[in-house]
Amino acid sequence: MPEQPRAELLSPDTHGRRTHTCGELRAAHDGETVVLKGWADTRRDHGGLVFIDLRDRHGLTQVVFDPRTDEAAHETAGRLRSEDVISIRGRVRPRGDEAVNPDLPTGEIEVIADDLCVLNTSETPPFVVSAHEERRMETNEDLRLKYRYLDLRRPELQQNLELRHRLYQTTRSYFDDHDFLEVETPVLMKSTPEGARDFLVPSRLHPGRFYALPQSPQTYKQILMVGGADRYFQIVKCFRDEDLRADRQPEFTQIDVEMSFATEDTVLELTEGLMQDLWRDLKDTELDTPFPHLSYDEALRRYGSDKPDTRFGLELQDMTESFQDTGFRVFDRIVDSGGKIIGIRIPGEGDRGRAAMDRLESVVKNEIGAAGLIYFKRPSDGSGVVQNISDNALPTEYGEAALEQAGAETGDLLLTLAGDAPTVYEQAGQLRLHMADDLGLRPEPGEGEDQFLWVTDFPLMEYDEDEGRYVSLHHPFTAPKTEDLDLLDDNPAEATAQAYDLVLNGNEIGGGSIRIHRQETQRKIFDALGIDREEAEERFGFLLDALRHGAPPHGGIALGLDRLVMLLAGANSLRDVIAFPKTQSGQEPMVQSPDWVDARQLEDLHIQTVLPADVEPPARVAKRSRLAS
Ligand code: AMO
Repeated sequence: MPEQPRAELLSPDTHGRRTHTCGELRAAHDGETVVLKGWADTRRDHGGLVFIDLRDRHGLTQVVFDPRTDEAAHETAGRLRSEDVISIRGRVRPRGDEAVNPDLPTGEIEVIADDLCVLNTSETPPFVVSAHEERRMETNEDLRLKYRYLDLRRPELQQNLELRHRLYQTTRSYFDDHDFLEVETPVLMKSTPEGARDFLVPSRLHPGRFYALPQSPQTYKQILMVGGADRYFQIVKCFRDEDLRADRQPEFTQIDVEMSFATEDTVLELTEGLMQDLWRDLKDTELDTPFPHLSYDEALRRYGSDKPDTRFGLELQDMTESFQDTGFRVFDRIVDSGGKIIGIRIPGEGDRGRAAMDRLESVVKNEIGAAGLIYFKRPSDGSGVVQNISDNALPTEYGEAALEQAGAETGDLLLTLAGDAPTVYEQAGQLRLHMADDLGLRPEPGEGEDQFLWVTDFPLMEYDEDEGRYVSLHHPFTAPKTEDLDLLDDNPAEATAQAYDLVLNGNEIGGGSIRIHRQETQRKIFDALGIDREEAEERFGFLLDALRHGAPPHGGIALGLDRLVMLLAGANSLRDVIAFPKTQSGQEPMVQSPDWVDARQLEDLHIQTVLPADVEPPARVAKRSRLAS
């Protein structure tokens, strides 16, 4: 039959309102006349009947078109294609026993249609859109993002958006119940020091000046405390121009919180309460509180990370003691200069073959960036120590001693990395995660029991070799422990911060601190960070002023909302929980941002661009200039 023009299918919507969603009908609706609207997901022609799976956000319903019920509807249904938008009227009836689909909530019934309106047709989609997972094919992510409106019709993404929506609701009601005010803060502001590059917005009215998009509302929330808001929260967009990863987006959302008269305990307790409500409402799980605490120091020493994944063992061990004066130059040099030799005992891997160990060595060198891997095996046949370095260079008695110290049993493997702390700890931490993945010890996203923990007692600042000065580990408004105030003058690197990070399954999902609320202390910190008076006045004069006008003690936290949803959803990437995310290269393929702007717009903003030699704007851009003839 020659295909009719698709436009002819279109018909006015004569059914009025829908009576149910596509996920709602059950056996109890038997005999009811219903109106459903949605997308044609799949069509099957079978035994003279046409079956359409009708889909909306709520689910799928099987609709049957029988020529004996309505010939015209049956004929039109036979020409429907995937993603056409339709309205149907019909009667609910039970499916025959053999046709019941126990996997589908509506699987006990079907609707026998007596009328069909085609509200819109769809071109053939560039990839299969279907609630039936088995029908879909692996599709390149850029293509999915370019046609995000089709991608968003996938049930997984719709469920993630729904989860995100429910997270907003629980969060708002939690803070409302705890007497917090939701306050909006400006998006056009000035630079906030959270450690990333700013996104800048040129000012038309003030030539040469720029607004910066907030990396966080940090200074505003502190000013709100000075303003007497007492307890503030906001679900807020933050913008950071930094290298992107699966868990980082250039614009992301925080649950931002600040409280007056707060101590670390009050902030931690409040945050734990929110997590309990979220897990109860969204995951039907009761969380035990208080969450365990680990000091930054201990986290680094045991796990080589400030966001340790504690769901499996493989803890790091300091083996330096076992390798004193070995005569092995690499080790001796590192030990003599105060470096460390860090070991990881891998139970049951003492018989790993040479090829597998060579591959591991290459991961250590090329991906983790350590100088080398020295390992010791205790083979399961009970033969002597096997090591990847000749016993002339490193007598096996040292390997024996190290295996002993590590508690290695027959059949175990001991990996060691040597170098300066803290780098060697961080490298060992990466090796630990690599081994856990290799051995399948790390639960897949969404599986296993969730493990929350607080990392506390961070150093206030650390020395940045590249910048040649101290930099804040959190931000420069973080208060030191009261007993460390005196260290600020001579030994700021020794001071511990009243700062805390919330970690879930090895992901940093939040961070905060008690703030400096006195102007003298804030000045001291700026001094220690090498921010001179003039610069401090220019950048943060408003905050220093505010601190002089009766600032109450205060503190808070910000939680990464996208990361929370990603972990709750068991998703692999933030892109799966954000409606319109950016790609790894910071672009949005659907609207194609960032984009060129007309020369005229740049002129209005007093902006001239200096482009790399190989980048040329399209001709249309230059044409639309006031200066063009
Ligand atoms: P911080 O910089 O630690 O603290 O940010 C808080 C939380 O936000 C999340 N996050 C991100 N999520 C997605 N993409 C990103 N690029 C990104 N960057 C951060 C993380 C992180 O734990 N003003 C302080 C908070 C405070 O001190 O109260 C701040 O912004 O989950």
